[in-house]
Amino acid sequence: MDLKFSNAEPFAEEREAIDRRLGGPGEGGWHGGERDEQDHRRAHTGHAARSRRHLVMEALHAVNDRVGWISPGALNYIGKRLSVSAADVYSVATFYALFSTNPRPKRVVHVCTDIACMARGSKEVCASLEKRLGPASAMTGWKHSPCLGVCERAPAAMAVEAGDPPHEHLIGPATVEEVVLALNVGPAALAAEAPPMMAVPQAGQEGLMLLKRVGRVDPESIDDYLATDGYAGLRRAFEMGPGQVISEVKESRLMGRGGAAFPAGIKWESTAKQPATPRYLVCNADESEPGTFKDRAILEGDPFALIESMTIAGYAIGAERGYIYLRGEYPRAFRMLRNAIERVRERGFLGADILGTGWSFELEIRRGAGAYICGEETAIFNSIEGYRGEPRSKPPFPFEQGLFNKPTVVNNVETLCNVPLIMQIGGAQYAKIGTEGSTGPKLFCVSGNLVRPGVYEVPFGATLGEVLELAGGVPQGRTLQAVLLGGAAGGFVRADELHIPLTFEGARANATTLGSGVVLAFDDTVDLSGILLRIASFFRDESCGQCVPCRVGTVRQEEALLRIMHNGHDAAAKGRDIRILRDVGLVMKDSSICGLGQAAWNAVESAIDRLGVLEESKSR
Ligand SMILES: Cc1cc2nc3c(=O)[nH]c(=O)nc-3n(C[C@H](O)[C@H](O)[C@H](O)COP(=O)(O)O)c2cc1C
Ligand code: SF4
Ligand code: FES
Repeated sequence: MDLKFSNAEPFAEEREAIDRRLGGPGEGGWHGGERDEQDHRRAHTGHAARSRRHLVMEALHAVNDRVGWISPGALNYIGKRLSVSAADVYSVATFYALFSTNPRPKRVVHVCTDIACMARGSKEVCASLEKRLGPASAMTGWKHSPCLGVCERAPAAMAVEAGDPPHEHLIGPATVEEVVLALNVGPAALAAEAPPMMAVPQAGQEGLMLLKRVGRVDPESIDDYLATDGYAGLRRAFEMGPGQVISEVKESRLMGRGGAAFPAGIKWESTAKQPATPRYLVCNADESEPGTFKDRAILEGDPFALIESMTIAGYAIGAERGYIYLRGEYPRAFRMLRNAIERVRERGFLGADILGTGWSFELEIRRGAGAYICGEETAIFNSIEGYRGEPRSKPPFPFEQGLFNKPTVVNNVETLCNVPLIMQIGGAQYAKIGTEGSTGPKLFCVSGNLVRPGVYEVPFGATLGEVLELAGGVPQGRTLQAVLLGGAAGGFVRADELHIPLTFEGARANATTLGSGVVLAFDDTVDLSGILLRIASFFRDESCGQCVPCRVGTVRQEEALLRIMHNGHDAAAKGRDIRILRDVGLVMKDSSICGLGQAAWNAVESAIDRLGVLEESKSR
């Protein structure tokens, strides 16, 4: 049965935005449901519906970008055009935080209130904004936001103005004046954004492998890319053939950099062996873990490197189409990637018969829309296919049945960007960089109360203390209180644990995790219990709600923390709440469907057991 709220029609600009993205109803045949004015209520199923459903998110983005929100008429029209019920389109639209199905102004500023920004004054910025503009809400034009992926510029904000074209502008460090200016005059009135190289304090230094081009070349110029070894990796891959490419990646012992540390070569081999076709490659550029911004440094500073890397990976696994799933809050990365794809296609590095080899490969960018869970690899599939970004149960694993139920490799941006290097120096040579269990160079997202926050590249093996030193340590006169490793899903370590080697095995041996490479330092000015509460509310907010342990557990976790922080003087009550936290944490870890629920208690647990944070909250 089709569900429809009304017979509302889209506004003219909504219709125009949708038609521009989907092609007009008259172009190439009608792709919607039956065109019967009497009966707009029937959604069609079968092949026609399935074949266009993957454009739901694209159509929603088109309207949201143009108007700032998505009206019931636009939901109806998208449903009609794609043969999906309006209720179903609504269920997708309401899953994603960047889409609004309620009227809101064209100009909105998202002000980050997440952990790295908390450490650098976001609370004070929000308090002043509240005085000037009123409480954060869609109608006052400014909103609280989870991590925007620019933690090195904390406190950060993102100004958005819907239109044709829309304007988006990342502000950091954000001041009250800039937020007010963005709202009054529009983001276009703001001073130019800091160039991509500003995220990389090492930019231009000799010896960098992954970040070698950042700050040295124009990230929009394919000639610059070609002049700095660009496409040498792909040429080498073509000489080797797909089987040898996979052998080299296996020999390199390259481990995934997205958090799960799975060997890339094994993933590629298992996918390439699947008889089913077509196969797909998905680059996970969702990067929504609070404190993570390393992929952005590559996407903005060296976008051609990702395109080349994906072309090599596609060739190795026998995929002819790849998708870059890019987080919605990375407008500059989107522009850079779109430009890079156009430029390489012009030069014959993408498309049909690449470099005369007879092999074809196409790439598409699909934007997320503000949902952390969409970084989970199977949630990405649902999101690209036009559904709510809810993770799928595994098995089947992506290498068997992934995107569109076909064999799929999902790899993180940084993981993929190691591949051209492996092609050039060989897997064996690459495996000599770093340590036995953690090979190659590694990017760390270093933020918080440090003199030079940013993305740092070191060979695996550097200690936590060495990485903090690269970033200049805590400002003079302050002392380090704790470090969060691995992001919100990671764990805290103490200031006297700087000897921990930042390798997969070193982190494991010290009962912590590297996750996606977050190193977030908190000095003695930071209220760590407030940080914990923020982490708990992040997971409660971002849980997709599909499974009970996580849906209920993340709520109970936040409630227990709130009680402890407000009734800290009652030792018995606090003891009971800590026991509840442990029980709930264990259940989430053991029985949640995906990594979000499984990791939602990690940081809280480490704060209790390693830092004794809740002990301190007694006195607060
Ligand atoms: C809640 C959640 C969010 C995730 N977010 C990301 C992400 O933003 N980027 C990423 O590369 N991996 C993310 N992952 C890990 C992916 O599921 C997957 O392991 C990874 O993309 C595989 O690539 P890799 O092997 O190259 O690391 C996330 C996992 C979970 C459970
Ligand atoms: S663990 Fe949480 S985020 Fe993952 S599927 Fe369950 S409810 Fe959704
Ligand atoms: S941008 Fe604010 S925490 Fe990352």
